[in-house]
Amino acid sequence: MQVVEETIRLANISPMLYRVALRDVEYRGYTIPEGWKVIVWIRSLHVDPKYYDDPLSFNPDRWDKAAKLGTYQVFGGGERICAGNMLARLQLTIMLHHLSCGYKYSLNFQTFINSTCVQLFSVIIHPLYFFFTGSIYFFQMGVVES
Ligand code: HEM
Repeated sequence: MQVVEETIRLANISPMLYRVALRDVEYRGYTIPEGWKVIVWIRSLHVDPKYYDDPLSFNPDRWDKAAKLGTYQVFGGGERICAGNMLARLQLTIMLHHLSCGYKYSLNFQTFINSTCVQLFSVIIHPLYFFFTGSIYFFQMGVVES
């Protein structure tokens, strides 16, 4: 399960939540007027070094202890929390089972070089692109043999 949580933390398909202010809301000195639509950027929580040491590293061991309350909202929260969150976790577990048991892995040097070049390129061109390719890097490292 720790591998599953860490995968979802880093490769989360939902970077944000949508909400509508039903009344005027005061938040940290700002007023969000009634009727305004709000985007809550949850991805920033999951890669914040305040909450996760070395946040861009894939480290399932960090789940030896639970995340601080409110800092792990990959499935949203409250009444609208993702209805499929347990199904998504189950699907990932089954997929990881098949990937672990059904394949042998080796490090392909050419793939390693290619993905390193993509990373260097993306750091130089656009940090945001680096952020999104960061999670892809992990998957590119291993080359699958049947
Ligand atoms: C890793 C996979 C998934 C992630 C990261 C994810 C994430 C989310 C997020 C962030 C929301 C918004 C929650 C909120 O507004 O507080 C949501 C809503 C929802 N998700 Fe997922 N989801 C995943 C997989 C699934 C699956 C597999 C299903 C169903 C088969 C599903 C069904 C739904 C539904 C029905 C809602 C709307 C809930 C509502 O508004 O009441 N999701 N999901």
